[in-house]
Amino acid sequence: MKQGVNALAGSHMAIRQSSDLPKLPAPEPEKTIKHFLNFAQALQSGQELEETKSIVKDFYINDMPKLQNLLQKRADALPNWLTPWWLNIAYLAARTPLPVVTSPGVMFPKFEFNTPEGQLEYAAKISQAAIKFYLLAKNDKLKQDKAGKAPLDMSQYKFLFGTTRIPKLGGDEIKYGCDYKETLKHIVVIRNGHLFRVQILDANEQPLSISAITEQLEKVVSESQSPNPHPVGIVSSDGRDKWANVYTSLKKDNNNVQSLEAIEKALFVVCLDKASDPPVGYTEKDEQSRQALHGGGSKVNSSNRWFDKTIQFVIGTNGYTGMTYEHTPAEGPPVGALMDYICDQFDTNSFTTTGPSSESTVQRLNITTDEEVNKRIVKSAKSMDRIAEDLDIVAFSFKPYGKNFPKSCKISPDSYIQMAYQLTFYRIHSSRKFLTLERKSKHISFSFSVPPTYETATLRKFTEGRTENIRSPSTHAAAFVKKMESKPRTPVSQIYDSLISATTAHKDYTLDCMNAAGMDRHLLAWKLIATENNLPTPEIFGSKIYQQLNHFQVSTSQVPTRHFIQMCFGPSALDCYGICYNPQETELHFMISTFKSYGSTSSKKFAKELQKTLVDMKSVINKAIKQQESAKL
Ligand code: COA
Repeated sequence: MKQGVNALAGSHMAIRQSSDLPKLPAPEPEKTIKHFLNFAQALQSGQELEETKSIVKDFYINDMPKLQNLLQKRADALPNWLTPWWLNIAYLAARTPLPVVTSPGVMFPKFEFNTPEGQLEYAAKISQAAIKFYLLAKNDKLKQDKAGKAPLDMSQYKFLFGTTRIPKLGGDEIKYGCDYKETLKHIVVIRNGHLFRVQILDANEQPLSISAITEQLEKVVSESQSPNPHPVGIVSSDGRDKWANVYTSLKKDNNNVQSLEAIEKALFVVCLDKASDPPVGYTEKDEQSRQALHGGGSKVNSSNRWFDKTIQFVIGTNGYTGMTYEHTPAEGPPVGALMDYICDQFDTNSFTTTGPSSESTVQRLNITTDEEVNKRIVKSAKSMDRIAEDLDIVAFSFKPYGKNFPKSCKISPDSYIQMAYQLTFYRIHSSRKFLTLERKSKHISFSFSVPPTYETATLRKFTEGRTENIRSPSTHAAAFVKKMESKPRTPVSQIYDSLISATTAHKDYTLDCMNAAGMDRHLLAWKLIATENNLPTPEIFGSKIYQQLNHFQVSTSQVPTRHFIQMCFGPSALDCYGICYNPQETELHFMISTFKSYGSTSSKKFAKELQKTLVDMKSVINKAIKQQESAKL
């Protein structure tokens, strides 16, 4: 992916409006180097660490000045030096399947319906509420998001609707709904693998009434009684190049072109799913997340999806509903805000029951497939089934306390929870039994103690901002974990002090990340700019520490919402835990995922240990504070 600054400025950036927010500045090299050494020290010691220091020194003196100079030029030229790179690297150029790692699932609270009529009623209401949110976003009427007092970039809200990834060999394209000149007025409804175009807005861009939407959904149901024998949408769950080949071949047929364009231009997708049961040992909530992430396999609902679309509402039959969301155009928080808004409409029963009816009839979107494509459909279905079977995902709600507790102790809840992940991982994976197992495995992990951890930080304070990585562990985090687990036990006051240092260091780094002084994207920039300018790749990027730092064993994201809405995603590597969390006032909600095929990780085990860790951390804090108070008397 070699693209110069000018090429980028002329493609992706030309169509984006710049906001009034500041441009993303190029980070300071000295700060990045300092962070690098600190994070290295949390993972290495002795001779290894000395070698790392020497490589870093060499990079700083010999390679960095030229690379930073080039980066500065790019930062001067573009509204956001990172976003075009990031869109490519993190999303469009990746050839791996979208479910279950790239595309998150999102779950609504359980709704009260249990009948086929209820399914259509809720599908109609969710669709109408989403369309109202779309109109608010389109007309700049959404409440301004903020981080503290700082306004955040709002452009991601507009990218959510009418947007599609177009599979292309070597690198996908993204078509944003907000870039179409024409007014988009329809959604696509999928049932039993059949696709239908359904009108949702009238000619004046007014949302259709609930009865008008429901009538169309009834028509969809009557026309989709038996499963589509060739549900080509399942191929969108497969590797991107495989899907790109199929997409190109489908487009040779003019009727297919019309259907595919209708899908590309749909404001969103609604999947009317069939009933599904949780696998043995899992809950209804776990099953809801499976439906939102991948649809439960080709025999259940995975063939009832079109994974390229940014938003697919997934409507089950028993009150469990959610969304499969394609990550390229937006981060979780705008999606969470959409879901919260929809819940608000239910809370206040704010649906338009009288109003415009449909001006067009429901249109079946036929897609003709040949023998070759049909064979691919079968293969993609098998591949999806393997992924669905391999993913171990559990919903875990911690009830003894919520974010109010760390706040009451003057600790950042997010930093507190991140330290709980560090400790939980250590407790599970530092045992002798585990180490033996791990070493025998062909997928040997780098860290047997505190895990390299990814946490998303928003860069939306800056125009077109996406994300940075609040990585852990720091040296303070490693020290806290070791003190907590020390035998004989370190005095509680010292453990408490180390927890305060670890959470303070994490919070300080969070602020650095949110203020464009994070390490990860800066390193990425140096690496990419060297390649783009045909410079040799500096030794630091081939070093052991660079590999260690980038082999994440815990991949996390906080998505807070007002309602009980949970997001989930798969782990970013075979031996990794994927954790999406929603800290609420009096409870903490987690979605934990692992791959069964790895063998040494388990979502349920992590949930169980996390429960214990959170209880233990509170106990340490309470004991330490009590001791401090008695000392004062
Ligand atoms: N003492 C008391 N209260 C504190 C505190 C302290 N030392 N530190 C923080 N708090 C309070 C905050 O004021 C805040 O209060 P509120 O509940 O009234 O809002 C609350 O605790 C939570 O703060 P904190 O836990 O520190 O985190 P945060 O809400 O600032 O979130 C990030 C931190 C990194 C998650 C957030 O900034 C971010 O970047 N979010 C986007 C992540 C994202 O994009 N995810 C999706 C990826 S798909």
